[in-house]
Amino acid sequence: MVATSSGRDGWSSRTGFVLAAVGAAVGLGNLVRFPAEAAANGGGAFVLFYIFCILLIGLPIMLSETLIGRHGQASATESVKKMAAESKASSAWTSLAGLGVLSAFMILAFYCVIGGWVLYYIGIFVSDLFQSGVTGGALVGMTPDDIKAIFPGLLENGGLMAGLDAVFILVTVYFVARGVSGGIEVASVWLMPAFFVLLLGITIYGAFGGAFSEAVTYLFTVDFSKLTGPVMLAAIGQAFFSLSLGVAGMMTYGSYVGRDVNLAKTSTMISFADTSVALIAGLCIFPIVFAAGLSSEGGLGLMFDVLPHAFQSMPAGSLIGLAFFVMVGFAALTSSVSLMEVPTAWAMGKFGLSRHKAAGIVASLALVLGIASAYSFNAISGFHPLGFIPLFEGQGVFDALDSVTAKLFMPIGALLTAIFVGWVADRRLIDSENGLTGGLHQFWRFLVRWLCPLALTAILIVGIFPSVLGG
Ligand code: PFF
Repeated sequence: MVATSSGRDGWSSRTGFVLAAVGAAVGLGNLVRFPAEAAANGGGAFVLFYIFCILLIGLPIMLSETLIGRHGQASATESVKKMAAESKASSAWTSLAGLGVLSAFMILAFYCVIGGWVLYYIGIFVSDLFQSGVTGGALVGMTPDDIKAIFPGLLENGGLMAGLDAVFILVTVYFVARGVSGGIEVASVWLMPAFFVLLLGITIYGAFGGAFSEAVTYLFTVDFSKLTGPVMLAAIGQAFFSLSLGVAGMMTYGSYVGRDVNLAKTSTMISFADTSVALIAGLCIFPIVFAAGLSSEGGLGLMFDVLPHAFQSMPAGSLIGLAFFVMVGFAALTSSVSLMEVPTAWAMGKFGLSRHKAAGIVASLALVLGIASAYSFNAISGFHPLGFIPLFEGQGVFDALDSVTAKLFMPIGALLTAIFVGWVADRRLIDSENGLTGGLHQFWRFLVRWLCPLALTAILIVGIFPSVLGG
């Protein structure tokens, strides 16, 4: 265990922190959601605006979250409470972190179910590798209809999904229970480089064997007439999800950072890495999809339905398919570890529990909610826990967890963070933590005080009343 100045367990180095935070940020959002959103929202125009959002909205909020954590050197709620007290502000601001802890827990519950699906596909491609061999295409002997039936077949099987969810949660809790430097950092330091190698390897493979130039044109040809209101809002929402903002995660990770680290620099590195991975993921996935003559599809179908078809017709398809899902598994695991750490750190601070106990309780509760999510695709699909609210009408447990957090809790959490750091907290505290000077400092302050709250309010309004944009 490596202790920070406050005596708590902490990152062993700046690189350890950056890799862990990149691990938290890079996940299913980069690999599935980004390509799907880009495809649904006009390609290049969306991508360009997305990069603006990362720079002007995501990055300033990431710096705000990490500086609250680093200043507090405690769980997210304790850190906000401390900063509020030192700024002579109401302790009610603590609720912004409380909401984040709740969101992280809710996301954890359904994120691990998807992690379980990834395990299932890893299993499929491992057994396929034995049957089809290394050089041939994947899933030999299966008709397109057989392949199409894999994903719906999995969604029908609540028991299998619950079991796979349990395995994914067990792996996650293993790292969280081992602590910050001895567990979370170790996972990221090993898995993130492995992830990058796999991502680059598959992308280069696709560049030679796939429809690379078609993918480049698709992602980077900017047609400004496509930059409409809904497209801009989709880009802001994607930027937040991808950088893991608004769920107290970056506050929690920031609390393990030493005082010598320049948070403006690390926030820039993390955002840069996350954005690069999203762009490379687009260049990894689309050439494979296009080369197989398939069309891109939104949502989870792109990964779990379209790609397996594409691997079938590819040379060494079983191996590439296996490498692909192992890569997705690594990215999802480092994100689920970060999600579990938020409520674990909170429970340790709030109830004085040991890390093992806190992580065990969080994991068990996440499993209960995960099992309900798994069965919400089949046995209890008619149960709509928030069906009485029009925004969540007709949504089962899995979908409700996803929409409540993405449409409400994450943007509210980030909005409150921007207001707290920009308007409420003592300016001297903020200035001593943010690592910025001169014009850049003024610019960051302007973004946190004005642009971020306005953009987040817009996301919230459109999320709650889609009809505002005619959606
Ligand atoms: N940023 C993750 C992704 O892109 O998949 C999702 C996520 C992880 C959101 C952790 C929030 C979080 F706290």
